[in-house]
Amino acid sequence: MLTVPSLLLAIALGGALGAPASQSEFDDLSIRTIQFPSYHEEKLPLAVIEGLQFSPALPRPLSSESLNAARASFANISSVTGTSISDEAIEELQGRYGRRLWGPGYMDITADSEVEARSLEERQVTVPNFPTPDPSQHPELTPMLAKVTASEIKGYVTQLSTAYATRYYRSTNARAPALWIQSQFSSWLGSSQTKLAENSFDQPNVIGRIEAKSGDPNAPIVLLGAHLDSTSQTPSTKAPGADDDASGVAVMMAIMRILKGSNYQGTYAIEAHAYAGEEGGLLGSQALAKSYKAAGKNIRGMLDFEMVGWQPNTSTNSGKSSTISILSDPVTAMSTHMTSVVKAYVPTAERRSVACGYGCSDHYSFYNQGYPVVCIASYGPNDSNLNPGYHTTNDTVDKLSFDRSVDFVKAGLAWIVEVAA
Ligand SMILES: *[C@@H]1O[C@H](CO)[C@@H](O)[C@H](O)[C@H]1NC(C)=O
Ligand SMILES: *[C@@H]1O[C@H](CO)[C@@H](O)[C@H](O)[C@H]1NC(C)=O
Ligand SMILES: *[C@@H]1O[C@H](CO)[C@@H](O)[C@H](O)[C@H]1NC(C)=O
Ligand SMILES: *[C@@H]1O[C@H](CO)[C@@H](O)[C@H](O)[C@H]1NC(C)=O
Ligand SMILES: [Zn+2]
Repeated sequence: MLTVPSLLLAIALGGALGAPASQSEFDDLSIRTIQFPSYHEEKLPLAVIEGLQFSPALPRPLSSESLNAARASFANISSVTGTSISDEAIEELQGRYGRRLWGPGYMDITADSEVEARSLEERQVTVPNFPTPDPSQHPELTPMLAKVTASEIKGYVTQLSTAYATRYYRSTNARAPALWIQSQFSSWLGSSQTKLAENSFDQPNVIGRIEAKSGDPNAPIVLLGAHLDSTSQTPSTKAPGADDDASGVAVMMAIMRILKGSNYQGTYAIEAHAYAGEEGGLLGSQALAKSYKAAGKNIRGMLDFEMVGWQPNTSTNSGKSSTISILSDPVTAMSTHMTSVVKAYVPTAERRSVACGYGCSDHYSFYNQGYPVVCIASYGPNDSNLNPGYHTTNDTVDKLSFDRSVDFVKAGLAWIVEVAA
């Protein structure tokens, strides 16, 4: 632990010299620039951001008394860092875990001051003219679907949610789950087709890739995504994150193993990304999306998987094989297309449609860079059926229904053959 004066000095020097990223950028008292759904930006210490999120939810609407009490509870930190806390920050972050709202509720844009400018213009996202989903055009899918099993998904979720006490991006062992995913990708795809993309904290993004049939390294990319980090009310010690989002990573891993095991290649390249630091404000995906944009990479479409394991019996899914929520925003044409894919290829699933909102998961980072994106989940934010263990130490593997999660592997494989063919 740094003493306060040397910490302040480190912050001042870091700012003045534009020092390279280091662990200390993510200490309790480090100041992050975060952007709220209104696009208001605010500089807050990490301990305040997390303290507001983890605190018990106050009655809504907040009163001036509760706003002031929340501010006062962080007065010791604010007085050290010289920062203030706006009403909006308290409104968005306070009790967020207790309120079971999706995503961090902000984007951490400390590394990207251009985000605000982009948000004020109409984003121009070009969606390719995908053909109407048609299983009869894709006989190559049939043998791949035969390889989908619940036990494969459960195995990956078990590893991710039990072999590491936590996958929180600030925890001391944050790198280990990324290295395990890398080892799995590498065993199927080969080490040259598997990469780590380092972040300014000690948890890299993991990238697995299948080249286009043409071998063209610049072929447009069809992208699968899910986040490898986890959180809870005690993230530094325990955060199994089995549903959020080991389940999404597991589905993505199964898809890549099956594609490669079937020697599938498309007209386009296929990549799978396991993102770091989603719970810290979409950190890993923002960095990667920005680097892809800067490198001029063409992404034909992105499919993000968020929490696909919690599949309770409900009044609306009786007789259905699963529940798949297709998030309706932020790119309507992508959501409409994904809905058609699920309808055509997984007709036994209950389909739901719900808005996700600002920054709710990593697809938003790619959307911010102008790429066409869509996200699927069991249940969207603010759904009464959302996993009650969400963002707690109760988000464990024993609560999930992998016999139903297989539908997400099927939907993902179908989406791949439709958009990468
Ligand atoms: C501020 O006070 C809280 C509660 O008493 C304590 O947990 C925290 O460590 C303090 N933080 C600093 C920076 O003094
Ligand atoms: C849901 O219902 C099915 C059959 O209707 C049953 O086999 C299964 O155990 C139920 N699942 C849960 C989590 O209650
Ligand atoms: C969640 O849903 C309830 C009931 O539909 C609604 O009143 C509330 O505004 C929603 N909250 C958010 C954050 O969308
Ligand atoms: C975890 O689940 C148990 C049993 O349902 C419940 O009593 C407990 O409050 C839950 N813990 C949290 C942190 O939600
Ligand atoms: Zn998540």
